[in-house]
Amino acid sequence: MTVDSSTPSGHGQTVCVTGAGGFIASWLVKLLLEKGYTVKGTVRNPDDPKNAHLKALEGAKERLILCKADLLDFDALRAAIDGCHGVFHTASPVTDDPEKMVEPAVRGTKYVINAAAHAGTVRRVVFTSSIGAMTMDPNRGPDVVVDESCWSDLDYCKNTKNWYCYGKAVAEQAAYEMAKERGVDVVVVNPVLVMGPMLQAAVNASTVHVLKYLDGSAKKYANAVQAYVDVRDVALAHLLVYEAPGAAGRYLCAESVLHREDVVRILAKLFPGYPVPTKCSDEVNPRKKPYKFSNQRLRDLGLQFTPVTQSIYETVKCLQEKGHLKIIS
Ligand SMILES: NC(=O)c1ccc[n+]([C@@H]2O[C@H](COP(=O)([O-])OP(=O)(O)OC[C@H]3O[C@@H](n4cnc5c(N)ncnc54)[C@H](OP(=O)(O)O)[C@@H]3O)[C@@H](O)[C@H]2O)c1
Repeated sequence: MTVDSSTPSGHGQTVCVTGAGGFIASWLVKLLLEKGYTVKGTVRNPDDPKNAHLKALEGAKERLILCKADLLDFDALRAAIDGCHGVFHTASPVTDDPEKMVEPAVRGTKYVINAAAHAGTVRRVVFTSSIGAMTMDPNRGPDVVVDESCWSDLDYCKNTKNWYCYGKAVAEQAAYEMAKERGVDVVVVNPVLVMGPMLQAAVNASTVHVLKYLDGSAKKYANAVQAYVDVRDVALAHLLVYEAPGAAGRYLCAESVLHREDVVRILAKLFPGYPVPTKCSDEVNPRKKPYKFSNQRLRDLGLQFTPVTQSIYETVKCLQEKGHLKIIS
């Protein structure tokens, strides 16, 4: 077959995206379809109206196949991954309930990598980990630059009942171990808190982070810092690490670190009509300082990050458009 420079990068390739209907995965599926890939997207129920947005994507009619698969169902994952050239494993519970979090995150990840090995055609698996697998470490000094060398302390996660971070860290470790055992190429993206417009109808956990400061449910803001990134940049990061032949290891996907006070100030300035909190819940301790981080590895692959203010703005516009937030002018 003759391939000219105008041929999209995914032409003739089939990839699997687990948890295709999720916030990040929906943007990834959209991007992959735009790049010409055929996508096998796993969802728990292909007929659920909550996956309608996937079927409406451009190219979906011709090149999107929705496959029914739970993370604890190896045979279903195997059927979905069979015949694929690549896998994006994004599905994961997003909860601090240990029973619901740890087993599907860890066992599901092992199953996905095993299924990729079974298929025999998979060139690379991209695993969506989290900043939660990196920063939960009470011994990290204030001047340490958070980057791909950082790992969360599992005992600390357990002791503080942070089961989401625990589950993501253990799942990421399991991904490396299983990949080594089965000879699978695994590359990892570690996003920070993800914002930006939603393609799916329902509000996901990270979007609630913004919504709660506008709908009156948060009366005060916490004395805490958080790193942020736009969902479209996270989707692109997945594609870049999949397509770059030399990509390997972890990629921290972060645009900036803000104190909650900065977030509420940005919101109040952009959308002055909402009851955005003006007081911190902690009037005793000094203001927490943002940590330093490096997103150099993804910038080296060509990623230009969306500024956090733009991402916050588009998150709110989307919440208004989808009817999750009353429009106040
Ligand atoms: N959003 C963030 O701020 C953020 C930051 C860092 C990392 N991440 C990671 O990014 C990935 C996607 O997160 P997201 O924000 O897009 O969350 P999301 O919208 O809640 O998507 C999670 C997806 O995982 C699926 N899933 C959960 N449990 C499952 C199970 N047992 N079997 C099959 N599918 C299951 C969900 O399917 P259902 O729709 O059927 O529930 C959903 O499609 C996750 O791995 C998450 O840990 C997210």
